[in-house]
This record gives sequence, structure tokens and C-alpha cells, in this order.
Amino acid sequence: MAAKIYIVYYSMYGHVEKLAEEIKKGASSVEGVEVKVWQVPETLSDEILGKMSAPPKSDVPVIEASDLAEADGILFGFPTRFGMMSAQFKAFLDATGGLWRTQQLAGKPAGIFYSTGSQGGGQETTALTAITQLVHHGMIFVPIGYTFGAGMFEMENVKGGSPYGSGTFAGDGSRQPTQLELEQAFHQGKYFAGIAKNFLTFVFSLFFKSNSLRVPKSLDSTWECKSLLRNTVDTKIRCSIHKTVNS
Ligand SMILES: Cc1cc2nc3c(=O)[nH]c(=O)nc-3n(C[C@H](O)[C@H](O)[C@H](O)COP(=O)(O)O)c2cc1C
Repeated sequence: MAAKIYIVYYSMYGHVEKLAEEIKKGASSVEGVEVKVWQVPETLSDEILGKMSAPPKSDVPVIEASDLAEADGILFGFPTRFGMMSAQFKAFLDATGGLWRTQQLAGKPAGIFYSTGSQGGGQETTALTAITQLVHHGMIFVPIGYTFGAGMFEMENVKGGSPYGSGTFAGDGSRQPTQLELEQAFHQGKYFAGIAKNFLTFVFSLFFKSNSLRVPKSLDSTWECKSLLRNTVDTKIRCSIHKTVNS
């Protein structure tokens, strides 16, 4: 068992999906992390999708809202529609009311990635408006800031993404994520997974100390920490863990 990172996206034409694949590679490069990629349910009919020239969906599993509770950290990806996330992704988030009521996502790190058609089409507004979703769930937004380094200052070539998260431009649909955009996506996955894993370990460490339990020597290993909790801690304490993680 490792820190579980979920990458959850909607993609109509494959651009966001391509970023998700790279993010997965980046996150998987962090030891002690298990990465799972999901797509959210489609809300449009086949007829409408056909009229929009959307290709068939990939075989990435379709997530249900309740699956989110299993994750230790979640990266959400979506294409821009009129400057904000697509309705398909919003519909999925609208189905998370049960998780919101019990605040089961509270305290979990979350990141964002996206695709727009054009420059100025909403790379930053899409990310910024998505943050309200994280806030209501009590999630902890993990932006990439300028940790991607020189890649953040590219001026010669068109480059998607921002301090909010990785991104790409689809143009008329024929443009594909560039090498630099893919590198940024990889970076986001790796950076986010490292933070989510360290955060989880830190929370566990606090929990052990606050309950006067012996802190395991291997606390730097999330895998051992989680398995130790699962194997040795009784139900009552598990409830406290939930409270600790969510307070
Ligand atoms: C209804 C609709 C609205 C869109 N609105 C915007 C927009 O506001 N800004 C923009 O740059 N692109 C816009 N686009 C283009 C999409 O963002 C683009 O198709 C998407 O980024 C491609 O990602 P995907 O291949 O993962 O589906 C829109 C597309 C559709 C179908």
C-alpha cells in the first residue's frame, strides 16, 4: 500500500488526456506512490458527440464520485469551455455532494491541469474558477508555482500552463501538446506526488505523537506507515485518524 494519487480528467479531443498520461509518468516516478488515472462520465449523447467530431473514448476507467474518498491526493484536469471547466467535469463535481456533506475530501492535496483552444482563451481563468470547488470541499490547492524553472519563462514558442498547473493549447484541434508542455505535465505529476506523500507522512506523524503512540522508525515510508495503521490500530483510533486528517 502506498500514497494513492488519483488523476481525474475529462477530455473530448484527447489533449487533456495526453497531459494526464504525462502527469501519471511524473507522479509514478516518486517512490512510495501509487497512481491511478480516471475519466469522468460523459454527459453528451453519442449523436451530439458525433456532431462535435469527438473521437471514441479511451479505455481509461470511468470514476464514480465516491471513489474520490480513497485517494490521498487528486489532480483534476479539464478542457476550457467559455473560460471555465467543461460542463462534464462540473457535472461530476456536482455529484460529490455526499462527500462534501461529510467533508471526506477535506485536507487532501489537489492540483489542476487544463487545455484551452487559444491563447487568452482561459488558461488561468479556468484554473482560478476551479479553485472554488476545492475550497468548498476543504481541499488543499497545490499549484506548481514557478518550480518548473526556466520552462516557465519560454518566450520564443507558444507554451500552455501557468503557476496554477500544467496546460496546453489545442488550437483548431490539430495542435498537440509540445515537448515543453509535456515536460511541465511530468513535472507537475512528480512535484504533486512528492508533496502529497510528504503531507500524508506528516499527518500520520502528528497523529502518532498526539495519541502518545510510538512513532514508527520508518515514518518516512508512507507505505509502512499506512500499513502499520491499518494492521494495528483499532476502529476507534481509525475514526480519530479520519478526524485528524480532516481537521
Ligand atoms: C463549447 C466549447 C467552448 C469552448 N470554449 C473555449 C474557451 O472559452 N476558450 C478556449 O480557449 N477554448 C475553448 N474551447 C476549446 C476547448 O478548450 C478545446 O477543444 C479543448 O481545450 C481541447 O481539449 P480536449 O482535447 O482535452 O477536449 C471550447 C470548446 C467548446 C466545444
